[in-house]
Amino acid sequence: MKALVLAGGTGSRLRPITHTAAKQLVPVANKPVLFYGIESIVAAGITEIGVIVGGTEREIRAALGDGSRFGARITYLPQEAPLGLAHAVLIARDWLGDEDFVMYLGDNFVVGGITGLVEEFRQERPHARILLTKVADPSVFGVAELGPDGGVVRLEEKPAAPRSDLALVGVYLFTSAVHEAVAAIAPSARGEMEITDAIQWLIDAGRTVTATTITGYWKDTGNVTDMLEVNRAVLEGIEPAVAGSVDAASEIVGRVRIAPGARIIRSRIVGPAVIGADAVVSDSHIGSFTSVADHCRISGSEVEFSILLEGARIEDAGRIEGSLIGRSVQVSGAVRAPRAHRLVLGDHSRIQIAS
Ligand code: TTP
Repeated sequence: MKALVLAGGTGSRLRPITHTAAKQLVPVANKPVLFYGIESIVAAGITEIGVIVGGTEREIRAALGDGSRFGARITYLPQEAPLGLAHAVLIARDWLGDEDFVMYLGDNFVVGGITGLVEEFRQERPHARILLTKVADPSVFGVAELGPDGGVVRLEEKPAAPRSDLALVGVYLFTSAVHEAVAAIAPSARGEMEITDAIQWLIDAGRTVTATTITGYWKDTGNVTDMLEVNRAVLEGIEPAVAGSVDAASEIVGRVRIAPGARIIRSRIVGPAVIGADAVVSDSHIGSFTSVADHCRISGSEVEFSILLEGARIEDAGRIEGSLIGRSVQVSGAVRAPRAHRLVLGDHSRIQIAS
């Protein structure tokens, strides 16, 4: 069995972070979200991994390498444009051959991994198996309708009137039957080749399509709210470990991981939180559910429920919460300046100013 991991796409919902970085590499508890997916694939016993890459190919390659650090062998499959999930299967056709495969969307997060799901699929071998989860607002997802025997009878992409509250999770299991379906479908109204259309084609052609409803936490980390939520969930499970230095005037409370080379000076850190290597936190308060990446500098500020990417600097900035702050971003207070905000923001930045 092989795995096809999708790490292309445009990532428009995570702009401006995705102007300069792949969304699959945004860190969750200081580890790229994509690494969790690759690790769960390897844990399920799959080591042949094809990675679909687009405009951020260089960055994804630099992060994953040849896969040996995960105990896997990675082949890169460039996609000329994000033309849809089924298009990714289409361009991977030759690499996949006729093997069964798991398709994993690189920005999705499945708590508890996929080992059990892959085992089930291997034993039962339906033509395709999809993963579903109950959601509060199905109309923004791909939605599945199940028949009385639990088989999938219909899939709809973002339906105005959803027939169930079961949304598709970004992990799919396929036999080679999917290739016939992918070859048969046409692009949808939004110009993408939809995997839901390919699966519907299988159903209509009388193939067996089954579903597993997972109750474990999952998220599509495509937007900031979900990203912060996944970060919160992962931080809740971290093992506390202090490798960096903490001075006598500082206090560490709860589950906190401090990487080697980090320095905590006259500060309070309330877990769960992680502080990356060589980060310096001084005269500050870091609150729960915060991930501070390597080489960040935080001084005279409060940061809570946030993700800071590598090299971000926060100085005398008051209180920051619910924020995703990009690489090498600088946020600083202007104590003696007149009451005005001075901003240098990239395209599609979003800020909320306390007035
Ligand atoms: P999406 O989140 O559906 O799409 P996107 O990356 O374009 O993001 P946005 O909606 O914010 O613009 O994609 C799910 C995953 O699949 C994501 O990791 C990107 C990847 N992908 C591809 O690799 N190729 C594609 O053609 C598409 C549509 C997505």
